[in-house]
Amino acid sequence: MPQVPGGPFLFLRKFLQHGTRVASVRESSRALAGEVCRFVTPDQPQVILELGAGTGAVTAAAQSKLHPDSRLIAVELDSDFAAILAQRCPRAEVVCGDVAELDKRLPDLGIDRFDLVLSGLPTPSLPKAVNRAVFETIERVAADACFSQLTLMPWYFWKLYRGLYEQVDFNLVLASLPPGGVYHGRRLRADWRDHVPGK
Ligand SMILES: C[S@@+](CC[C@H](N)C(=O)[O-])C[C@H]1O[C@@H](n2cnc3c(N)ncnc32)[C@H](O)[C@@H]1O
Repeated sequence: MPQVPGGPFLFLRKFLQHGTRVASVRESSRALAGEVCRFVTPDQPQVILELGAGTGAVTAAAQSKLHPDSRLIAVELDSDFAAILAQRCPRAEVVCGDVAELDKRLPDLGIDRFDLVLSGLPTPSLPKAVNRAVFETIERVAADACFSQLTLMPWYFWKLYRGLYEQVDFNLVLASLPPGGVYHGRRLRADWRDHVPGK
């Protein structure tokens, strides 16, 4: 039986405490994490941003494919998750904090551009202000980066991501329980502000 980082009930406990902010009772499966990391490549250095990294399911998948000169910045709000993430994924630079505050942390990291954004955030259920801040940062430092967003509700949020990106491809991951998938968005739309999701 594979070990569950943080024990079998940590995710469930956090879900019961924080509901829509955690939005899942377990970390992502290997198959789903692998699809989120479809565009991580060992062939060239990349600067990669991961949003809502949790206990590191996606981070670990990304880490296993990184070019030696790539950087992987993993942002997670929950300090218990972030501690597990840092231990599990030594190649990641873990930022424990709110994605809405990320812009302020970038100068210290010496980063002004990302090549790829991986997101495990429950974007549809987050406050609108958080999503606006996230996409303002993306517009500034990752407008041309591919945005790979996981979901446990295949196709359901297609229109939502189509409001943010000019091109959106959806890849279904059946080998995951429950089945999920990944939206890969390209080219942030000029009018994305008119389509910011959230409560
Ligand atoms: C659905 S879980 C995904 C976790 C992980 N990426 C995975 O695939 O297993 C969503 C994660 O987003 C984090 N999160 C939610 N809101 C956040 C915020 N404002 N800033 C940073 N992380 C946030 C939650 O704490 C949680 O770990």
